[in-house]
Amino acid sequence: LPIQPVCHCSCQHSEGDECYKRKDIHLHVKTAASAPGKIILFGEHAVVFGESSIATALQLRIRVKIEDAERESFNGVYLDARSTPHAFHALRLSGRSGVGISVSSDIPAGAGLGSSAALSVALIRALRPEIEERELAELSYRVELAAQGRASPADTSIATHGRAIYISSRETAEELWSIRGNEVTWHVSHLEMKQIPVVIGFTGIQAATGPLVMKVKTLYEKYKLVREAIAEIGLLTEEAVVALRRNDLVRIGELMDRNQRLLTVIGVSSREIEKLIDAVRPYSYGAKLTGAGGGGCIIAVTDNPERVREAIELRGGSAFITSIYSEGARCENE
Ligand code: MEV
Repeated sequence: LPIQPVCHCSCQHSEGDECYKRKDIHLHVKTAASAPGKIILFGEHAVVFGESSIATALQLRIRVKIEDAERESFNGVYLDARSTPHAFHALRLSGRSGVGISVSSDIPAGAGLGSSAALSVALIRALRPEIEERELAELSYRVELAAQGRASPADTSIATHGRAIYISSRETAEELWSIRGNEVTWHVSHLEMKQIPVVIGFTGIQAATGPLVMKVKTLYEKYKLVREAIAEIGLLTEEAVVALRRNDLVRIGELMDRNQRLLTVIGVSSREIEKLIDAVRPYSYGAKLTGAGGGGCIIAVTDNPERVREAIELRGGSAFITSIYSEGARCENE
């Protein structure tokens, strides 16, 4: 019988050739993959409770190389669950072991731009190059849950599928995949929208996502005002779907400003975020924090990116003018 190419390494043997992996001989030791960072345009935090969210992929990417190694390592340092939780859980959940991992990235860590999710997705893609997108997205979400405790599939979905993603607890006709977690079922689909002109401003403050997600959960359980704010974020995100499809920048900006006010109500904005938002507001259609908040980044939709960049830098932030709407995870040449 011809041997089917079922390897999880990059044998690429053709039909009839011997599969080295089946004989447990690891002759093909290197694979590489990359995945994009992301911005959340609307609905962060609310999505964890089952409200809708919209995210797009950035041109900033993380690149991962793996090779067989006796001692598991991450950029030359011993791999463990505490210091490199996403890499640790990605390795365990992918069913591989005995690899050295090297990572290079243009996505700033802890900035709310999805570097951890991109790492999980790129790593699983490199560990299992033949994996289907749907399984890659699901496995990466499991990694996020193991590393973060409580999470929606927003970050891992956008790092997997790229372009723009709409996540909702309602079923859609064009669904890519769906998953259940935290008593919510999320349906993930692509959102067809044009490029919109966005500038990202980094406050310079790194904030871990897990504790912020837990903080919002505590406030949600305690205060009606927070529950109402979360529901309102869900509703405005639905309006944003229409505005994005129409490329109506004025409406998109208004909805972003409203989303930002509600993010302040649920306790995830900060003085540094507000400072950057105040600075960019005169030159923008709208602006808000993106990702978990507590520091991290803001996004501004603008016709005047250079002016916005200047305003961010004058207030001590760093600005990125980068394309949104980029490709998802892919295998790379080693
Ligand atoms: C973080 O990028 C997005 C959050 O909504 C968390 C999540 O969805 O898991 C804050």
